[in-house]
Amino acid sequence: MRSSGEGSGAEPGGFTMRMPRGGLLFLVTLLGSLFVLVLYFQSVTKSDAGVKTSKRVAGKSRRSPLQTLYNGDQWEMLSAQRSLQGRRELLEQACLSHTKKRRVLAPSDLKHLIVDDKHSLIYCYVPKVACTNWKRVLMILSSDGHYTDPLAIPASEAHIPGNLRRMSDLSVSEINLRLRTYLKFLFVREPFERLVSAYRNKFTRSYNTAFHKRYGTKIIQRYRPNPKPESLEKGSDVSFVEFVQYLVDPRTQREDSFNEHWERVHSLCHPCLIHYDVVGKYETLEPDAQAVLKLAGVDQMVQFPTSHKSTRTDGNMAASFFQHIGPFYQKKLFNLYRMDYLLFNYSTPGYLRTR
Ligand SMILES: *[C@@H]1O[C@H](CO)[C@@H](O)[C@H](O)[C@H]1NC(C)=O
Repeated sequence: MRSSGEGSGAEPGGFTMRMPRGGLLFLVTLLGSLFVLVLYFQSVTKSDAGVKTSKRVAGKSRRSPLQTLYNGDQWEMLSAQRSLQGRRELLEQACLSHTKKRRVLAPSDLKHLIVDDKHSLIYCYVPKVACTNWKRVLMILSSDGHYTDPLAIPASEAHIPGNLRRMSDLSVSEINLRLRTYLKFLFVREPFERLVSAYRNKFTRSYNTAFHKRYGTKIIQRYRPNPKPESLEKGSDVSFVEFVQYLVDPRTQREDSFNEHWERVHSLCHPCLIHYDVVGKYETLEPDAQAVLKLAGVDQMVQFPTSHKSTRTDGNMAASFFQHIGPFYQKKLFNLYRMDYLLFNYSTPGYLRTR
């Protein structure tokens, strides 16, 4: 109090008795102006908080991944950049020509969007498109050096919902800020290769008993004439033909939405409502993953795990599964996954016999 008054502080008591009025007035004025300043600074920092945070955290690059992508003078991967831009433009065009109405995003649409506030990244995870490895990488990016090697994280741990932050858990204003200022990316895959991969993983592996019980028993009950009691009970020997019958049956989606392993990317990630900055492809997984890590300025810190699985589902394998599907079901199935073909520039597989 005293130091804020103009008195030198060594004044005798009588003087200070007369001061309070002037001192109080001064103090009120001072506090008042401080209050206004605080409000002002708050509004300044609020208006570009997203950019500021990412600048500070990105450290070396001092740019958010989004800035690096669109003001690319620092980004030397020009050819990669061009192909990413081509995919973005194609997606935008396909959305314009194939979706009728635009609706407003709801937080519940964002359940598959994982957010990394440290590096200003948003990743929409699509099962069967290297999503375990992306979740591992994101766990490393958001853990403070607790993990360093993605493959040291068990897959089961990467899939625990609480281990990564979801956009659907944030408030509307927190969501909007991040959608505006973060780099949004997803990885897609040839739709029928993804579907065959899901079928093989969930229905032909003996350890996936939860899927056998939940989906397998129902599929066999509905689509297999004269099933064996053991098949009905365990649901562990669903054929690809039966799985396809289940997918194209209108009752299936009326009862419940598709499981995320075979749900369309269009429905999981809403690529016509959310403007994705990078559309990575499973077919070019390594360079595309590298491009995202480079944009985020973390390519020196973490390496995307490379897979050398010889049992990977590819086009030939998908073709061999589709041999057993008649033209009628092939056509229905293609219509079901048509948007994913159109939006991500996949051509109709040559093995289909839809005419
Ligand atoms: C779309 O696919 C065609 C045929 O596979 C390819 O030639 C073209 O470059 C692709 N376009 C984009 C933008 O990726």
